[in-house]
Amino acid sequence: MKILLTGCGGQLGRELTRQLKQKGTPFAGYDIPEFDITDKAAMAAIIDRENPDVVINCGAMTNVDGCETQEAAATAINGEGPGKLAELTAERDIVLVHVSTDYVFDGKGISENGRIRPYTEADPIDPQTVYGKSKALGEKLVKENAEKYFIVRTAWLYGDGHNFVKTMLKLAENHDKLTVVADQVGSPTSTVDLARAILALIETDAYGIYHGTCEGMCSWYDFACEIFKLKGIDIDVAPVTSEEYPSKTPRPKYSVLENAGLAALGLNVFRPWRDALVDYLNWLDES
Ligand SMILES: NC(=O)c1ccc[n+]([C@@H]2O[C@H](COP(=O)([O-])OP(=O)(O)OC[C@H]3O[C@@H](n4cnc5c(N)ncnc54)[C@H](OP(=O)(O)O)[C@@H]3O)[C@@H](O)[C@H]2O)c1
Repeated sequence: MKILLTGCGGQLGRELTRQLKQKGTPFAGYDIPEFDITDKAAMAAIIDRENPDVVINCGAMTNVDGCETQEAAATAINGEGPGKLAELTAERDIVLVHVSTDYVFDGKGISENGRIRPYTEADPIDPQTVYGKSKALGEKLVKENAEKYFIVRTAWLYGDGHNFVKTMLKLAENHDKLTVVADQVGSPTSTVDLARAILALIETDAYGIYHGTCEGMCSWYDFACEIFKLKGIDIDVAPVTSEEYPSKTPRPKYSVLENAGLAALGLNVFRPWRDALVDYLNWLDES
């Protein structure tokens, strides 16, 4: 099986590159400017040259605030681009893996029997931001145009790149006190676990939509406290509300996804989020 990886310089792309090398799976990794998901002709030429069995699309515009002010770019990269890739892969009988996000949901969770439960793959989407809408369009066009596809939704992703963990550690270098939002919950997810799940999924033909996040949930405040606790950093972290910490783009209050589809396949390889975080912090220390 040969794999073509797009967005290979991003967080998930780098981890997939690592795992594919480790496994000895033949693959080719591309990123912009050579492989631009908005440029169908350029993509077609590379796909024909590489002749892969599977394309894993990690290319995306992930800056949520940037998407809000650059809607056309977000729509082209996160929405129409995956649609073009879906057409190209379908025409060549190639399996497509497309990575999506919790932002396709409304951010309120599902109210059931007096409690809020995590979103499953069967729940309706209702994106609230330009980023979320652009990713929802990407999902729609993949579903409409690809023949053999996996859409894998993840959330709160960290790995080799810019992310919340690194931001917290950096801030702690020159702050004695931090305020972190405590009324938004989700599941911090390591790219290591997500890449493992994707590589397990492509061994099957169980095409469809999957949720892929580490197990358990916490707030950004809890996440920050755990990072500092594990690192032994003595810093005063104060919980604040979303209203007290305004951001340019409204963030979902509830981003918890249940990996129901993967569990049904016996492929829920995701660890509890704290265990994955311990490994990540060790990896940061070593690298
Ligand atoms: N990060 C999260 O918290 C999070 C949460 C939920 C879902 N996701 C989804 O998970 C996937 C991977 O996220 P990530 O954190 O690995 O993202 P990332 O680190 O931002 O990587 C995205 C990669 O795509 C590249 N790219 C940008 N424009 C492109 C284009 N026109 N054509 C092809 N590639 C392009 C980027 O290049 P440049 O860096 O040069 O722009 C970067 O290498 C994305 O689909 C994202 O939507 C992420």
